[in-house]
Amino acid sequence: MKILVTGGCGFIGSNFIKVVLRERRDWHVVNVDALTYAGNLENLEGVAEAFPNYTFAKVSIAERSSVDCVLHPEGPKFDAIVNFAAESHVDRSIMGCEEFVRTNVQGTAVLLEAAKRCGVGRFLQVSTDEVYGSLPPEGRFVETTPLHPNNPYAATKAAADHLALAYAHTFGMDVVITRSSNNYGPHQFPEKFIPLFVSNALEGKECPLYGDGAQVRDWLHVEDNCRGILAALEKGKRGGIYNLGGGNELPNRFVAGRILHLIGAPQALIKFVKDRPGHDVRYAIDFTKARLELGWNPVIPFEAGLEDTVNWYSRNALGWVARVKTGEYRRYYERQYGR
Ligand code: NAD
Ligand code: DAU
Repeated sequence: MKILVTGGCGFIGSNFIKVVLRERRDWHVVNVDALTYAGNLENLEGVAEAFPNYTFAKVSIAERSSVDCVLHPEGPKFDAIVNFAAESHVDRSIMGCEEFVRTNVQGTAVLLEAAKRCGVGRFLQVSTDEVYGSLPPEGRFVETTPLHPNNPYAATKAAADHLALAYAHTFGMDVVITRSSNNYGPHQFPEKFIPLFVSNALEGKECPLYGDGAQVRDWLHVEDNCRGILAALEKGKRGGIYNLGGGNELPNRFVAGRILHLIGAPQALIKFVKDRPGHDVRYAIDFTKARLELGWNPVIPFEAGLEDTVNWYSRNALGWVARVKTGEYRRYYERQYGR
């Protein structure tokens, strides 16, 4: 099996590549990533040396000429594409959404076209529960819940889902979509809630909690999500959409409190700040379909996963975290590869 992974230097993509190389020893993995502020080759440190069946190329999925270098009809045949590449942070999309449209919509379109031209076996689009919008206090998202994206990031992800499904319908392409809830774990860029609070608390800095902190997210450990994506890739039905959730629906205020407790930092570091505009109140995932069709279940309990995550950020506070926060990597990659 030869797969093309996009966005493999980001948080989930890098964890996914490590899971695949560990658990599918005979697979070949080509990772293409534009190395934006969120992409980091150190997330895959030692991988190229340990696995000759892994290669990396700096490619933007939004640029057709760049994608053509790895995907062209006379080139190597791929059995599947797993598309992680995206602008992924909601707050950034609220500040300006052009890059989100370029990568998440245009980039997915470029990839779908290239996949069609080259006869790629399967196209797995890594999507999000945010495409469904916000839930009232009761109920969960199922795969047939109508799409109602509320923020610019979610709107671009919904557009990409629609494009992928349209390619399946119009051209008979083998498309599978996974929609997961909020991931947490090692190597998550410290702009997202959990790594931001962990890294700030470790430095004794304030942790900005939006609004009243009562919003609910369903936390899924990144390794569980990666196993779910792998199961969808191998066992998902053609045209299938699979929700992947952690079964951990928790208010942000509670999660913030647990993080500070685990670090041994004062709860007073939590600073209530102005709410995110259009903030989705609650996400909760029904993953019955993934359980029944893929045989998938999340297995990492939230408390244990959170403690491991806090420990990982503590161990890497002066290394990975500091370099990411100061933009040191980005400057290095720009020197190495150009912008
Ligand atoms: P991330 O921001 O950590 O990583 C994104 C990666 O994509 C980076 O390596 C970046 O360099 C790369 N990238 C960005 N633009 C690119 C382009 N034009 N061409 C090639 N590569 C590009 O994101 P993540 O949290 O790992 O999310 C991965 C995917 O999973 C995204 O599609 C996201 O929408 C989806 N998702 C994330 C979560 C979550 O909780 N983090 C939950 C559900 C779904
Ligand atoms: O649900 C899946 C989505 O989860 C993914 O598709 C996105 O890529 C990912 O970024 C994430 O989106 P959220 O907006 O839910 O995640 P974020 O970590 O930004 O915020 C989680 C919650 O914490 C949310 O309710 C906002 C709140 N928050 C966030 C930050 C960054 C704060 O209260 N303070 C903060 O500083």
